[in-house]
Amino acid sequence: MVQEVLKTGVPDTIPETMACVEIAAPGGPEALRPARRPVPRPGPGEVLIRVAAAGINRPDVLQRQGKYPPPPGASDLPGLEVSGTIVALGADVADLGVGDAVCALLAGGGYAEYCLAPAPQCLPVPAGLDLVSAAGLPETFFTVWTNVFERGRLVAGETLLVHGGGSGIGTAAIALARAMGARVIATAGSAGKCAACERLGAERAVNYREEDFVAVVGQLTAGRGVDLVLDMVGGDYLPRNLACLAPDGRLVQIALLRGAHGELDLGRLMRQRLTVTGSTLRVRPVEEKGRIARALCERVWPLLAAGRVWPVIDSRFPLEQAAEAHRRMESGAHFGKILLSVDPRPLTTPGPSDNFGGRHP
Ligand SMILES: NC(=O)c1ccc[n+]([C@@H]2O[C@H](COP(=O)([O-])OP(=O)(O)OC[C@H]3O[C@@H](n4cnc5c(N)ncnc54)[C@H](OP(=O)(O)O)[C@@H]3O)[C@@H](O)[C@H]2O)c1
Repeated sequence: MVQEVLKTGVPDTIPETMACVEIAAPGGPEALRPARRPVPRPGPGEVLIRVAAAGINRPDVLQRQGKYPPPPGASDLPGLEVSGTIVALGADVADLGVGDAVCALLAGGGYAEYCLAPAPQCLPVPAGLDLVSAAGLPETFFTVWTNVFERGRLVAGETLLVHGGGSGIGTAAIALARAMGARVIATAGSAGKCAACERLGAERAVNYREEDFVAVVGQLTAGRGVDLVLDMVGGDYLPRNLACLAPDGRLVQIALLRGAHGELDLGRLMRQRLTVTGSTLRVRPVEEKGRIARALCERVWPLLAAGRVWPVIDSRFPLEQAAEAHRRMESGAHFGKILLSVDPRPLTTPGPSDNFGGRHP
C-alpha cells in the first residue's frame, strides 16, 4: 500500500507524526488533551485526509464522558466528520485521487491533522462552499437524510416537526425539509433560537420552555397533526410526540436526551396507523453509509451547490482548543455546528462566529 502511494511521491510531504486531541480519561472537557500520534496509513479501501476542519457532535461529548465507546476497529480519537484534502490512497480505491477536496463521515479519528476515511464515505466539497465549512456537513446530513427522508419518508407537501431545531441536526433538518418542499415546525429552548429557526425556514418555532408544542402543532395543522416527528429528546416526549402525529404519521427517534423509556399508547398507534422507528448511524457498515453518501450526492449536493441549503456554522475553534469547543456545546448556547479547524482561512458560509479572530461567539 505504501508502495502504491510512493508512486505519487506524496509520502514525502506526509510527516511521521501529527497533532491531535485525545481523550486522556473519561471526564469533563478538560479530558480532551492535545497530543502527538503517528500519522495513520490507509488500508484497503481507505484514504488519508489532511484535515482542514472537524465537526463537533453531541456523540463526541458522550464518548468523552465514557458513555459512547468507539466501535471495534475505529480510532479512539474523537471526531465523526472532517473536511480536507486527500493525500494518500490505500489499495482498491478507484474513484478518488490525491488532491481531491472532500468531506467525510468517520467512525472516529477526526480531531487530528490527518485521519483515515473509508472511500465510500467521502463526498466532494460542494461547489461554492469553503473547505472548512464543509466539515459541518457529513454527520448531520447523513443523519437527516437517512432518518427524515428514507426512514421517515417525508415528501413535499407534508409537515415535519423537528425537536432541537437549533442543534446541528435540527438546523440541517429544517433547511433540507424546506428545500424539499415540506412545511416545518421546530422546537427550541430560547426565543433567540426560535427566531433563528424561523429565519432558516421553520414556519413556526415553539419555545418548549414556555409553550406546549402539542397544542401549537394542533393549532397550526387545524387539529390534523404532522406527518413526521424527528426527535432527539425521548423520555416523556414519546406520548406527546404521538399526540402530534396525523393519521399514518411517523416518529423517528435519533437520540434520548431525556431517557430511553416513555409511555406508548398502543391504541392511538393502531387507530392512527402510526409508525415509531429510529436509528443510529455510527454502527452501520461502510456499504450502508456509502449508499447514503451516493443518495446525498444525487439529491442534496445539487441543493448545496445552488445555495438553497448550507451548513449552519455556530463557531469554530483551533484544534487544540477542543475543550473550549466542547464547553460551548455543553452550554447549549450554540445554534448549528461547532467546528474545530486546522485551516485558519475565513469561512464563506453566512453568519459564523469565529474564534480565530479572538472573538467569542
Ligand atoms: N441517531 C443518529 O444517527 C444520530 C447522529 C448524530 C447525532 N445524533 C443525536 O442527535 C442529537 C443532536 O446532535 P447534535 O450534534 O446536533 O447536538 P447539539 O447541537 O448539541 O444539539 C442538542 C440539542 O438538544 C436540545 N436539548 C438538549 N437537552 C434537551 C432537553 N432536555 N429537551 C429538549 N431539547 C434538548 C438543545 O437545544 P435547546 O437549547 O433548544 O434545548 C440542543 O440544541 C444528539 O442528541 C445526538 O446524540 C443522533
